[in-house]
Amino acid sequence: MPDDHSLPSTTAMASPLTAARPAAPLAGVVAVPGDKSISHRALMLGALAIGRTEITGLLEGEDVLATAAALRAMGAGITRAGDGRWLVDGVGLGGLGEPDDVIDLGNSGTSARLLLGILASHPFTAFVTGDASLRRRPMGRVITPLSRFGAQFLGREGGRLPLAVTGAASPVPIVYQLPVPSAQVKSAVLLAGLNTPGETTVVEPQQTRDHTERMLGHFGAKVMVEAEPGAGRRITVTGQPELIAAPIIVPGDPSSAAFPLVAALIVPGSEVRIANVGLNPSRTGLLLCLQEMGADITLENRREAGGEPVADLHVRAGKLNGADIPPERAPSMIDEYPILAVAAACARGRTVMRGLAELRVKESDRLAGIAEGLTRCGVRVTVEGDDLIVEGADNFPAGGAMIETQLDHRIAMAFLVLGLAANQPVRIDDGHPIATSFPDFVPLMARLGATFTEAA
Ligand code: S3P
Repeated sequence: MPDDHSLPSTTAMASPLTAARPAAPLAGVVAVPGDKSISHRALMLGALAIGRTEITGLLEGEDVLATAAALRAMGAGITRAGDGRWLVDGVGLGGLGEPDDVIDLGNSGTSARLLLGILASHPFTAFVTGDASLRRRPMGRVITPLSRFGAQFLGREGGRLPLAVTGAASPVPIVYQLPVPSAQVKSAVLLAGLNTPGETTVVEPQQTRDHTERMLGHFGAKVMVEAEPGAGRRITVTGQPELIAAPIIVPGDPSSAAFPLVAALIVPGSEVRIANVGLNPSRTGLLLCLQEMGADITLENRREAGGEPVADLHVRAGKLNGADIPPERAPSMIDEYPILAVAAACARGRTVMRGLAELRVKESDRLAGIAEGLTRCGVRVTVEGDDLIVEGADNFPAGGAMIETQLDHRIAMAFLVLGLAANQPVRIDDGHPIATSFPDFVPLMARLGATFTEAA
């Protein structure tokens, strides 16, 4: 595979895919690709460290390749040494240089927000853009805190991409209370704080994924995490540490594992093992929900790999019941609502998913996309405020619909999984976005017995 950033999906022709009920139950053992969040951070911190960082299990999806290309354009040495094995020759903190062209981050919100954090305390100007989906997404949420370091931004209305950022020559540390639970905003502020003298603090009212904090410690930065009485967590990074290259082992992405996992639950008679899935407690909300719904999932061979808990998931199909999912669980499963909604559509009774406002600003408006897609597939769905209510028919959904994926990989994969259980095939208008996070999704599902076809 090329180690370059491949064509952004917007420029490629749409490639529809159809999912139909398989002739036999799903069966087999698969390993999902590396965690997307950890892969981005490994490249970024490797680029800012002194020495060579060796990464094993890097996700080779378009989003992560966009991060690699951006860091290379600013001087880091990044090479592919083998399947998922990458070497990063860091430039040292503060050592990145001005890129000589616009940085195109494709579909990747994580690349955009975290890189803007790094750029905010590097004294040069960079121009950043992305695909139609990324250009619609709000960047004001990082521009507000990053401006307080002294960085300057010139963007479109609402701070949207394309934008220009000029990093602060003499950045000042900040204390920032997150207005929305967002690991991307938290990480952007902590990364800006790295090249800033003094202590930078983020207070998060609800815990979000903590890979940045963990990995900063792994590279030798001083990071303090305290409980903030009545207000969540307080994370403080001491600026201008010596970041030292450190090997990274990337676990399998629980957000990708979610798709074969739910497929195995809803295709009758299935039995599947998914090996090496990351189980960082800030990412396990979906497992908890599915277990509450009665899913038969066993965690086997629990262990630590590269500082993250991992296990193999043993999944058997069975009846699911509706559940009431509380809003405080949302940050630990924010990317999993499309596939949870698919599981809910096949369950007995009502599932209420509360507090989903953040779904409106993902790769697409996922709250609208899930509701629209399920309705087309004959499922009764309502959106009340920020809550999504799915009436499970205790049966298979009708299906027989075309789903608009809106440049959203998770909408694409979730509805293909629904098509494996529905009475009539489900078709998605474009399978390309899947390559942003799970390039081997189609062949991996085929190995389990689920074949997606291009024919209508
Ligand atoms: C991510 C954080 C989440 C998630 C995204 C990856 C990260 O976004 O939806 O896919 O790697 O930090 P928010 O932090 O904006 O909720």
